[in-house]
Amino acid sequence: MLTSPSEWHIQQAHCTLTRLRPSLEAAIGKGRDAERFFQRLSHKMPLIFTLLHELYGDQYDFFYHLQNILVSAAQLSRQRSADLKKLDEQRRAAPHWFQSEQMLGAIAYVDLFAGDLNGIKDKLPYFKELGVTYLHLMPLFKAPQSNSDGGYAVSDFRSVNPSLGTMAQLAALAADMRANGISLVLDFVFNHTSDEHEWAQKALNGDLEHQAFYLMYPDRTLPDQYQRTLRDIFPEQAPGAFTYRPEMEKWVWTTFNTFQWDLNYSNPSVFQAMLEEMLFLANQGVEVLRLDAVAFVWKQMGTPCENLPQAHTIIRAFNALASVVAPSMIFKSEAIVHPDDVASYISPQECPISYNPTMMALTWEALATRDVRLLSYAMEHRFALPQGCAWVNYVRSHDDIGWSFADEDAWALGITPFPHRQFLNAFYTGQFEGSFAAGVPFNFNPVTLDMRICGMAASLAGLEAAQAQGNVPYQQLAIKRLLMIHSLIISAGGIPLLYLGDDIAMTNDYSYKDDPAKDNDARWVHRPRFDWARAAQRSDTSTPEGQMYQGLSHLIHLRKATPAFGTGHTAFFDSGNRHVLAYVCDGQVLALANFSEAAQIVSAAVIASHLNATPSYDRVTDALLPAGDVSLAPYQYVWLTKTPEKAIKSRKRIK
Ligand code: GLC
Ligand code: GLC
Repeated sequence: MLTSPSEWHIQQAHCTLTRLRPSLEAAIGKGRDAERFFQRLSHKMPLIFTLLHELYGDQYDFFYHLQNILVSAAQLSRQRSADLKKLDEQRRAAPHWFQSEQMLGAIAYVDLFAGDLNGIKDKLPYFKELGVTYLHLMPLFKAPQSNSDGGYAVSDFRSVNPSLGTMAQLAALAADMRANGISLVLDFVFNHTSDEHEWAQKALNGDLEHQAFYLMYPDRTLPDQYQRTLRDIFPEQAPGAFTYRPEMEKWVWTTFNTFQWDLNYSNPSVFQAMLEEMLFLANQGVEVLRLDAVAFVWKQMGTPCENLPQAHTIIRAFNALASVVAPSMIFKSEAIVHPDDVASYISPQECPISYNPTMMALTWEALATRDVRLLSYAMEHRFALPQGCAWVNYVRSHDDIGWSFADEDAWALGITPFPHRQFLNAFYTGQFEGSFAAGVPFNFNPVTLDMRICGMAASLAGLEAAQAQGNVPYQQLAIKRLLMIHSLIISAGGIPLLYLGDDIAMTNDYSYKDDPAKDNDARWVHRPRFDWARAAQRSDTSTPEGQMYQGLSHLIHLRKATPAFGTGHTAFFDSGNRHVLAYVCDGQVLALANFSEAAQIVSAAVIASHLNATPSYDRVTDALLPAGDVSLAPYQYVWLTKTPEKAIKSRKRIK
């Protein structure tokens, strides 16, 4: 894989820039903004040249493509609004703006949460009430009418789905959000387009130039050879990675659903076209771009075609060009793969922020086993990130839960991975005796016996089953589980990301089974229409909605008042009690979380050895601790510090 630019690259980059300067000047015009563009470009040019040369340097027309790519960048820089250029300057002064205790993320589907973009605008007070500073609006682009993989089959990156609004409305909303301290997060679904995208349509009509935008084969010879080393992503609803299209008499590469055509990044025209789509989105006011399915963008025979070195090169090249045109925008990686591979995308040059799927999946693992060792071990070894990077910590997302922890981590603790994953699937589908969970199986693979899990957090944590039984104590336990796992994402270093609906403990929605466009994809069970009637009860703590919302609000409030949660330095350690997760945030706050429904004790000696000051105060309950060992009630979590002045005065004591 690529290292840093060599002497030769630096010289060639310089020479190229000199040659191209007149065309770039023609594209960008004159003035201060143009000067700034050239400053940034000269600075990044050696890197841009190196990356693109590595990807496309062996093609005879490399210089032609390089020129087109840079001219596109100049044109899109010229189109960037004054407002966003101001933001670019602000963020240059504070590049680590997202590493802050003030950050709180949320995910919403525009239609399911608020009907359309106007509805989202009307709901800004709700986001502000929660404390949201980062709002991921799920793919809202033009997409096929029936099944569009929840919007992840994009037919036009420059059009908003007409039922939701227009691109102009989206740009205005982004500005409104920004004025309210909320950053817009959108997807860049760059691995594939829908088969209704103009490029795919042209390809279907026999246009060879656009057929070369995708990966297509006249017969099964190559697909069969590739298929041997590929993982099946949707073995039930879309087995295999190739789809035959009789219109062209060709097999198209379709990693995900049959209507999602993988783009061919070995073609520099694809890189250029997608760069233009990306910068167009940046210019609408996107502040965080979620790079969808990063692992899959490069293919090579004889490999799994996931996480190949060129995937990194492509992202780095996009990053370098975005930092010239839209320097305030950052990339977020969506790689739901082996933890080592997840980490490989995270760096300031690639994606400075990333989902933390390992922590997410292992949190559910620990809830099922009541044993935090695997979670703790994995986080002790894997939580630290390079300078300037942050995790996005979450409990649930719109996707399934896959047990993508590292086998090595499990073996290190004497856990055999295969039966353990089988156990977790049995537990979360409620088949394991005594399980509290009501999850739904997702894409069982009869060859590998692999399976994933769908379900709303509340259903997975036991609320659905307890409500069905009318069992009030069990309902209470479920809410405690939910709050406890949210306490982890809210305090562990990084950006906490709420899946809206979880804020009011919404349970599974089985109505997808009645919709033929959804019934083969169980992920819809956890994509309910947001229930505003239930949200209206969020202040009433006699309801589960109120208990969840108020508990969550309290934690968010505390987060924002605790700078130690903003730095990202989180040291997980062995609490000496396998039911209790323990970590120290920035050397200041020691967190304990009891993952079992029995009371637990953590010894004073263990705590003393992990925090300089003797902790004597719990921020969660705002109470002083008795001296000695710390006792935790079922599913209790505490955030311990030394005693603040105001608490000494009020002299409260924990019972
Ligand atoms: C990402 C999305 C998922 C989608 C897939 C294909 O993983 O999160 O919902 O199915 O990409 O676009
Ligand atoms: C696979 C992919 C992930 C995607 C998911 C959708 O796990 O690795 O990117 O979100 O499938 O189900």
